Amino acid sequence: MNRKESFLKYQAQITQDPFLLDIKHAKGSYIYTRDNKKYIDLVAGVSSCTLGHSNPAIINAVKKQLDLHTHVMVYGEFIQDIPLRLAIKLADCLPKNLNCTYLVNSGTEAIEGAIKLAKRKNGRKKVVSCLNSYHGSTQGSLSAIGRDEMKKKYQPLIPFHENIRFNNFEDLKILKNDVSSIIIEPVQGGTNFIIAQKKWLKAIRKQCNNHSIELIYDEIQTGFGRTGKMFGLELSNIVPDIICLAKGMGGGMPIGAFVSSKENMNLFSKNPSLGHITTFGGHPTSCAAALVTINELKKSKIIDRINNKREIFKTHLIHSKIKNIHGTGLMIAIELENEEYCQHIVKKLLKNGVITFYFLFDKKNIRISPPLTISENEIKQACSIILKTLDKY
Ligand SMILES: Cc1ncc(COP(=O)(O)O)c(C=O)c1O
Repeated sequence: MNRKESFLKYQAQITQDPFLLDIKHAKGSYIYTRDNKKYIDLVAGVSSCTLGHSNPAIINAVKKQLDLHTHVMVYGEFIQDIPLRLAIKLADCLPKNLNCTYLVNSGTEAIEGAIKLAKRKNGRKKVVSCLNSYHGSTQGSLSAIGRDEMKKKYQPLIPFHENIRFNNFEDLKILKNDVSSIIIEPVQGGTNFIIAQKKWLKAIRKQCNNHSIELIYDEIQTGFGRTGKMFGLELSNIVPDIICLAKGMGGGMPIGAFVSSKENMNLFSKNPSLGHITTFGGHPTSCAAALVTINELKKSKIIDRINNKREIFKTHLIHSKIKNIHGTGLMIAIELENEEYCQHIVKKLLKNGVITFYFLFDKKNIRISPPLTISENEIKQACSIILKTLDKY
């Protein structure tokens, strides 16, 4: 049995048609396979490898932590240097009310924690989220996502979840005093990177204030520079009550967090205590990677250059087969003629050494979310391959 056959036999698949790149190593904006091919990575593990692959500062920080200790105790009991420094750093970077962090392992766990925290705050049942939103694959976050076909085979899910239309003012009438929380992505990551309108977010914030509803931002994809700001909330300056983070936070290591006020977070510690438990959440090796990622984003010009890099993509990706380019920052959706053509081009690009990807819910668009450190030259090279591929097919 060769490696591909073993992979297909022994590892679960989530599609009938996986990419099957057989990875040897990865460095910067490139991934190298065991058959000695080199691929430019325009996906970055789906918006995760913020500082590129094998960033030396991240590797050093993780190794240094490994030499000290790995897991020592469930979250919240022992004081561990790096997780503590990470929580302080997050409070430093976020608006004043978002000052207390609960570290978890993934995005979906951050959403689960945030939904639970809101319930503790106001004792209500109803959770509102948007059509075409993606918040994760565990039961609570799956209950919130805005796509019935992804949910219906898993019924019964958690009741009292309602979806509204993204950027639709009329649907905000649902926000009454029986709602516990509303979850919003500042830029929808499962569709073609649609941006939440500032006016709409402002209206949501007002309704949440009027009815004591917790506003949760899912910044699992928009956080840590991806939009050209440290956090997507800076696009509108509308501040949530709870923010969920993951993906790009760890610069390629698994970590997530939900951040709220100290007053809110205290609710988990009493009546009953142990309100949210995680064994590995905030693992010190992942925290080490996250701390380097944030420090690097803060001290370098990486974030300042994001919109310039977006412009390079946009000015080079002019082709009769490209119908539109959506998104913001380095969340780029290339709209093509139709779904079949899009699937076809993503595969041809892979053959030609460029990794792109699909969107969960919008199959007409190609996903581009490269490492934030991708260079201008690498962007130009990738665009030139994309244009040639579109010419040929
Ligand atoms: C916006 C958003 N929320 C939540 C998640 C779930 O994160 P994870 O896969 O780490 O559980 C994702 C993952 O793609 C996401 O893009």
